Amino acid sequence: MDSTFLKWAGGKNWFVKNYSDLLPQKYNRYVDPFLGGGALYFHLEPKKAIVSDINDELIITYQAIATDWERVTDRLKLHAQNHCKEYYYKIRQSRPRAPHAIAARMIYLNRTCFNGIYRVNRSGEFNVPIGSKTTVILPTDHFDKRAQIMRGTKFQTCDFEKTINKAKAGDFLFCDPPYAVMDEKSGFVGYSKNLFSWDDQVRLSKAIERARKRGVMILMTNVNHPTIRGLYDQDKYRFLDASRKCCISGINKGRNTYNELIILSNI
Ligand SMILES: C[S@@+](CC[C@H](N)C(=O)[O-])C[C@H]1O[C@@H](n2cnc3c(N)ncnc32)[C@H](O)[C@@H]1O
Repeated sequence: MDSTFLKWAGGKNWFVKNYSDLLPQKYNRYVDPFLGGGALYFHLEPKKAIVSDINDELIITYQAIATDWERVTDRLKLHAQNHCKEYYYKIRQSRPRAPHAIAARMIYLNRTCFNGIYRVNRSGEFNVPIGSKTTVILPTDHFDKRAQIMRGTKFQTCDFEKTINKAKAGDFLFCDPPYAVMDEKSGFVGYSKNLFSWDDQVRLSKAIERARKRGVMILMTNVNHPTIRGLYDQDKYRFLDASRKCCISGINKGRNTYNELIILSNI
């Protein structure tokens, strides 16, 4: 399935389109500790997977589609029927408790908000104003098919380290962290109330090195910056330069080409 149902900052559709020849032919479980919109996950449709993200609402959304996609769809249809400025802000302010309602709210806001990007303020509240798009139900949703794909997947809200530590020899670990570097912000960093710090990058490199030693196949995308390269031993990891067009124009002011880095090991 070559589409995601959420538009996500740092989404890897560009990677799937241009670099899928780098992916391993065979692996045991797919492990993705920075799931986001799940571009690679939906592309691969893995039979067995462990996926996670620190964003609780996001994980609840996946779980709701996996177990209750009909109710998510019904609620989403309701949002589509009622969509207007007042309704958008009413839903933005609401805090539903039921998983299907949390999922429908997230999908609705993701599709109708300005620039279509999930972003929260420092208190963890979704604070994006209404955008110009009005289509709430998309022909590419296929929630029934997605629910089937998700059957063999374990979803968890947690920090990346916990998930990486679960990867074993023969598993394929895909790491797509938020792009933050030591001395500058390169790209968009504002996915959840917890920003990704330099300490997190160091912690990530150590967790990846432990996984590499256990025989896990590793593919990571990161910012192409000397500080990041310096965290990985050139004798043990392969580096590939990758460039892409950035399309979050409202935030980065312009559609620039960004140089990205792909780091591989054991593949
Ligand atoms: C670049 S995005 C992933 C995009 C995804 N690969 C896609 O195709 O849409 C990075 C993700 O990392 C999550 N994240 C940030 N800090 C994290 C942490 N400490 N542990 C786990 N996930 C984290 C964010 O919520 C965000 O969804």
